[in-house]
Amino acid sequence: MEILKNKKIILGVCGGIAAYKSCFLVRELIKHGAEVRVIMTPAACEFVSPLTFSTLSRNEVIVNIFPEKKSNTATSTWHIDLALWADLFVIAPATVNTISKINYGIADNALTTLVSARRSPLLIAPAADEDMYNSFENQKNINDLKLKGVFFTEAEYGELASGLTGFGRMAEVDEILNHIKKILSGYHKDLLKRKILITSGPTYEPIDVVRFIGNRSSGKMGHALACAAFYRGANVTVITGPTQLKYPNGIKVIHVVTAEEMYKAVIQEFKRNEIFISAAAVSDFKPKIVSKSKIKKNSEKFFIELIQNKDILLEVSKFKKKNQKLIGFSVETENEIENSFEKMKKKKLHLIIVNNPLEKGAGFEVDTNKITILRKDGTVKSFPLKFKFDIANDILNEIKDL
Ligand SMILES: Cc1cc2nc3c(=O)[nH]c(=O)nc-3n(C[C@H](O)[C@H](O)[C@H](O)COP(=O)(O)O)c2cc1C
Repeated sequence: MEILKNKKIILGVCGGIAAYKSCFLVRELIKHGAEVRVIMTPAACEFVSPLTFSTLSRNEVIVNIFPEKKSNTATSTWHIDLALWADLFVIAPATVNTISKINYGIADNALTTLVSARRSPLLIAPAADEDMYNSFENQKNINDLKLKGVFFTEAEYGELASGLTGFGRMAEVDEILNHIKKILSGYHKDLLKRKILITSGPTYEPIDVVRFIGNRSSGKMGHALACAAFYRGANVTVITGPTQLKYPNGIKVIHVVTAEEMYKAVIQEFKRNEIFISAAAVSDFKPKIVSKSKIKKNSEKFFIELIQNKDILLEVSKFKKKNQKLIGFSVETENEIENSFEKMKKKKLHLIIVNNPLEKGAGFEVDTNKITILRKDGTVKSFPLKFKFDIANDILNEIKDL
C-alpha cells in the first residue's frame, strides 16, 4: 500500500537557502498521493516565492498569521482547523531561529503558531551553516525537542551555501521522504481509541528528606511506547516516575515518585484501560523507616532496613477483567528466557518483553534497545538492535491483535 496516499501533511518552510529543495519535497509528496499545505515564515519568502509552493501543492500558501479577508483560509481560527486536519507536520528547512522558538513555545508567526497548536507528530529537517548548526544553543534546542518526542531528519555533512564544507546541510529530499513514510507507517491509527495505560521511568524510595534509593531507568522506553501508541490513535495514560522527558499534548501524564504512589495511581487508572504496559523500573524494596530529618554521619556504619514494595503487575493480575491485557518487561542478566516465562505465568501476562541491560546498546539510559518478545503460547521472537521508537512500534504490532 502507498503509505502517503491521502495523508494530510503540513510542510513548514523557513528562511534558508535549502528552501528551494522543499519545492522538490512538495512535488514528491503530491506525486505519492499526499495532500500538502505549505506554511512559510516571512523570511522563507525571501528565498522562494509562495507562488511556487502554492502551484506545486495545489493549495494556497499561508504566510500571514492574520490572513486577508479574501483568502480561502480566512477562518479566524485557521491554525486550529489546520492543526486538527494534519496527519504529520514537517518543517524543512528548519532554521536555527525557528528551532529555538519551537523549543521555547514562542508563537510569533503563522508557522510557529501552528506548531504550538499541533496535534500530529512533528518532523524537523534542520539546515544551517556549520557554526550555527553546531552552536551550543542550537544543539541544546535540538536535544530538548528530541526529548519532547519531536523527530529529526539529521542534517548532513557536505557543501554548504556559504561555499564552505561541513555539517549543517539539509538532508536530501529522498531521506526526508523516507523518514516521513517511516513515521506515517508507524502511525496507521490502528490503535484508534484503544485505551492504553503505561508506567514508565524509575521510582525513588526516600531514605531521609534528601536521599533516596533509585535506579538508572531513563523512562525512554515507556516514553517511546506512549508516543508511538498516541500517534497510532490510542488514548494513552502514562504514570511516570521522575524523568526529564516531556510528552506530546494529548497524552494524560501522571507524575509519581515512589513505588507506592505508582501502585496507587495504577489501581486508580487500570479500570479505565484495556491494555496495561508496565515499562517502569519499580523499586523492589523501600526503606522501612524514612527519617524526617537528614541523617547525620555520626557512625562508621549505617544500616537501612528494606521492606518489599508491592509488585504492581502481580497485584493488578489478581483483579483484571477478561478483556484487559497485561504486558510486562523483564530485565534479566542471566537465564533471561526461562526466568521471563516464569514471571509471565506468575503474573498472568499476555506478553513479556525481555531485555538484558548488559548487551551493548540495550537497556537503560540509551536511545536503542534489543528485545525478545515472549508470548503466552510459548512463542519467542527476537528483534535486532533498534531505536526505542522503532522497538515501541514492534511491541505495539504484537499487542494490537491480542
Ligand atoms: C542568504 C542567507 C541564507 C541563510 N540560510 C540560513 C540557513 O540555512 N539556516 C538558518 O538557520 N538560517 C539561515 N539564514 C538566517 C535566517 O534567514 C534568519 O535567521 C531568519 O531570521 C530566519 O527566520 P525564520 O526562522 O522565521 O525563517 C540565512 C540568511 C541569509 C541572508
